[in-house]
Amino acid sequence: MITLEPLFVGKNVIHFEAIHSTNTYATELISKTNPPEGTCIISDFQSAGKGQIGRYWHSEAGKNLLISFILYPKSLAATDQFYLNIISGLAVMDVVSSFCQDVSIKWPNDIYVQNKKIAGILVQNTLRGKDIKATIIGIGLNINETTFPQDLPNPTSLALENGEIHSIENIRILLAVRLEYYYNKLNAHHLASIKQQYLKHMYRKNIEGSFLLSDETKINGTITGIDNDGRLLILVEGQITAFAFREIRYVI
Ligand code: BTN
Repeated sequence: MITLEPLFVGKNVIHFEAIHSTNTYATELISKTNPPEGTCIISDFQSAGKGQIGRYWHSEAGKNLLISFILYPKSLAATDQFYLNIISGLAVMDVVSSFCQDVSIKWPNDIYVQNKKIAGILVQNTLRGKDIKATIIGIGLNINETTFPQDLPNPTSLALENGEIHSIENIRILLAVRLEYYYNKLNAHHLASIKQQYLKHMYRKNIEGSFLLSDETKINGTITGIDNDGRLLILVEGQITAFAFREIRYVI
């Protein structure tokens, strides 16, 4: 399944020992220059790693993969931008699945091993009218870190899951190969099959569970999928409702 070398994704590598954030650097880079499509920025450490909704992304120096890919998805309409989250989730899931069992994508695109988070993804799109001018796909994948800060709810890493130390560089190449594979599918307009894959691997799909709404109300419901805007669809008391990212969180 996995080819050995990507053709363009991850070919041009910009490496730092330490930087504020690979996503922030990528944003600065595309605002000033025109880096080749597939350029990736990696760093051994981030002093201001960016998580979703303004959170900080923790990673011990030299232990994990911290990477941002720059893509120019010309064939994707801005209204379909959630597919960039989908393909990044699928790519990371494939890589983690080479080493661990029971891997899933927790909406919108956290990668879970059983009930523990092994990777987070931050997709930042620059839109121009109805088009996507550029996208930055930032991925933090926990590889060799084995002790995490207490305040992180449920972290894990490849080393914690299978007791082995892994080559971060090898995993970077595997990831580039899988991202290129799904990106090519996206450019070939295979949107329906990409979405099917995502739905098949969604964490807790079709299983009743509890969720907290933004006003802290607790609801019980069953995830049925996502809508065209990438919102989470939950069946609650016979009715399906769509939730945006800031409107709901899982009770794990
Ligand atoms: C999340 O909150 O789950 C998303 C985390 C994304 C972290 C990665 S690490 C590499 C890239 N650079 C950043 O500053 N953030 C992303």
